[in-house]
Amino acid sequence: MILRNCKALINGKIEEVDILIEGERIKKVGKIIRGDESINIRKKIVIPAFIDVHVHLRDFKERHKETIETGTKAAISSGITTLIEMPNTEPSIDNMENLKKRISIINKKSYVDVGIFFKFTDKIEKDVEDVFGYKFYMDKPFSDETFIKSFELGKIVCYHAEDYKIIEENKKKFREHHKIRNCKAEVIAIQKVAKNALIKRKKVHICHISCSDSLKYLNEYTTCEVTPHHLLLNKEHYEEYGGIAKVNPPLKSKKDNIYLLEALKKGKIDIIASDHAPHSISEKESEDSPSGIPNLDVMAKIFLTLVKRNVISLYDLWRLYSRNPAEIFGIKEKGYLREGYYADMVVVDFDAKGKIDPDEFFSKAKYSPFEGFKYHGDVEIVFLRGKIVYYDGDIVEKRGRFIFRDF
Ligand code: NCD
Ligand code: ZN
Repeated sequence: MILRNCKALINGKIEEVDILIEGERIKKVGKIIRGDESINIRKKIVIPAFIDVHVHLRDFKERHKETIETGTKAAISSGITTLIEMPNTEPSIDNMENLKKRISIINKKSYVDVGIFFKFTDKIEKDVEDVFGYKFYMDKPFSDETFIKSFELGKIVCYHAEDYKIIEENKKKFREHHKIRNCKAEVIAIQKVAKNALIKRKKVHICHISCSDSLKYLNEYTTCEVTPHHLLLNKEHYEEYGGIAKVNPPLKSKKDNIYLLEALKKGKIDIIASDHAPHSISEKESEDSPSGIPNLDVMAKIFLTLVKRNVISLYDLWRLYSRNPAEIFGIKEKGYLREGYYADMVVVDFDAKGKIDPDEFFSKAKYSPFEGFKYHGDVEIVFLRGKIVYYDGDIVEKRGRFIFRDF
């Protein structure tokens, strides 16, 4: 198949080209004379598809919150063709039996390519095959020995950086969620991770940074990510939305929003991720609302709007949500429009306009603190490994599979 008259983002620059797809891959980028089937892209922007490295797809015993099918449909509608999911499922992915079960459901039900982070526990002796790396939860009790061990394996470890001891101390003093999980809890955890990464010369990844102060402690061994809610929402939104905007780490101040956005533009933050964490609406509206915001349906609309409004550049969006995720986590032959790479691409419609409406979500979690957000820019066509899987609002093919890092 040939995509004609594309304005394609090649190595971060827009070029007017045709793209020839053969099988699952890009065969040629340039002027293509001959060929069979072709689509006229009419000078629309074509970019490498998005890669989201922080997703909770639930399923297993939490199918009322989300399933691999509904979660990955939400992903594909946002132009995300590849994601890595977190292991805090019920039961969690911390043993080979659950990992195998998970892989089997992914291969049967997924609409995008899905990899897994294995839960780091003291049971791990050597690198687990078939996963991209590990997730370490610092907001739950763990021993120093286990923590140190997490810097000694080959595959990358992603840290949920909120220190459980500080959280416990704060619980004695405060009732408000954002005071219990304050910036001190995040900063102390990040300091510990960054220090050990440096000592052990071990590359690590820090999930969902929420405080401007956290940025001071990063070093050459750390990469980090930020979510749309920590960039754009703050305590005022929590006051307005209540449980719907309750998340870990909690929303912080407007000042943190501004600093994080600046850091993002300056290249101090490596990755954008959704931290899609769906719960049922009744759970979210209950007195003891669980933390988590469902973001997969809104990712493209929000970030393409930031590009349209010149808040970030299209180059930034590619770097943060496609190239860096692929490079940092070793997702092979994705993240670029390049000959020989998988044809995972998004045709963008920068004229699409509207307001975010959770009733239209593919996710089971049909609520959002971004409800009403005026978007200007959306995904029009999505290609996953050479085939159209999403076209103008409709999912047209199920084409996901399990993927892993094999070293
Ligand atoms: C996550 C979830 O619900 O799985 N919630 C969240 O607020 N981010 C768990 C987590 O990442 O802490
Ligand atoms: Zn998390």
